[in-house]
Amino acid sequence: MAYENIIAKKKGKVGLITLNRPDALNALNTELNLEMGKALDKFEADDQIGCIVITGSEKAFAAGADVKEMQPKSYMQAYKEDFLHPWERVARCRVPVIAAVSGYALGGGCELAMMCDFIIAADTAVFGQPEINLAILPGAGGTQRLTRLVGKSKAMEMCLTGRFMDAEEAERAGLVSRVVPADTLLDDALKTAEKIASFSRPAVFMVKESVDRAYETTLAEGILFERRLFYSTFAMADQKEGMQAFIDKRSAAFKNE
Ligand code: CAA
Repeated sequence: MAYENIIAKKKGKVGLITLNRPDALNALNTELNLEMGKALDKFEADDQIGCIVITGSEKAFAAGADVKEMQPKSYMQAYKEDFLHPWERVARCRVPVIAAVSGYALGGGCELAMMCDFIIAADTAVFGQPEINLAILPGAGGTQRLTRLVGKSKAMEMCLTGRFMDAEEAERAGLVSRVVPADTLLDDALKTAEKIASFSRPAVFMVKESVDRAYETTLAEGILFERRLFYSTFAMADQKEGMQAFIDKRSAAFKNE
C-alpha cells in the first residue's frame, strides 16, 4: 500500500516504518498517524512479522506534533475529534515496536518514541518536551511516560523548562536502552528486531504483555499475572519444541503456536 507520510516495508520478519515528512522534520499530523495505524494493523495481522521498527531521518525522528495543524484548532474541535487518539495505536500494538531515534525526538516525537517498547538512540539523538514554549503541555503521554522512565525530578525539569536531553544523558537516565553511532543506527535496530522476530511469536507477545503489566499494577498482581502466563506457555507447541531443541542440542523450529 502506498502512503504519503510514511514508508512501510517488510524486511524479512521485521516491519519497518520510516516517518517521511522531511520538509517538516517529520512533524506528526493526523494523516501520518492514521497511515501509521494502517501499517501497524497490517504488520500485526501478518503472522510472519515478529517485530516492528519505527524510525525517522538522520536529522529528525520527529520534531513533535504538527504545530501548523494544531494552531487554529478550537477546544471543541480538539475534544470532539479526540485528534490524539490515533497516536495511541502504537502503544496498543501486540508486536514489539522498537524506536530507532536519530536527531530530534521532541514533543510528540519523544512521546511516540516512548510509546514504543524500547528506544535505540543514535549518538546524535536529542530528546525533549518543549511544549511549554507554545503555552501547552505534552498531550500524548509525555508527562506520564517520561516520569515513569526517568523519574519525577528530570521529567519535571524537562517539561517545565523545555530543555533538551542528549543521547548520553538519555541512556544514563533510562530513557533509551542503548546508544549507537548514527551511521549504524538502522542496522543495529534491524538486527535487534530480527533477533526478537526469530523467537516464538506468542512467547514474545507474552513477554511484552508481562513487562508492560509492571507499569499497570502492583508487584503482587504483576507477579501473579506473570506466573499465569508462564504456566500457559506449557500449552504451546513452541515451548515443547524450544525445550526439546535445547535438550537435543539443535536449533528450535518455532511454528508460532
Ligand atoms: N510542527 C510543524 N512544523 C514543524 C515542526 C512541528 N512540530 N517542527 C519543525 N517544523 C517545520 C518548520 O516549521 C520548518 O518548516 P518551514 O521550512 O516551512 O519553515 C521545517 O520544519 C524545518 O524546521 P526549522 O527551520 O525550525 O529547523 P531548525 O533546524 O532550525 O530547528 C527544531 C529544528 C529545533 C526541531 C525546530 O524546528 C523546533 O523547535 N520545532 C518545534 C519543536 C516543538 O515545539 N515540538 C513540540 C510540538 S507540540 C507537541 O508535540 C504536542 C504534543 O505533545 C502532542
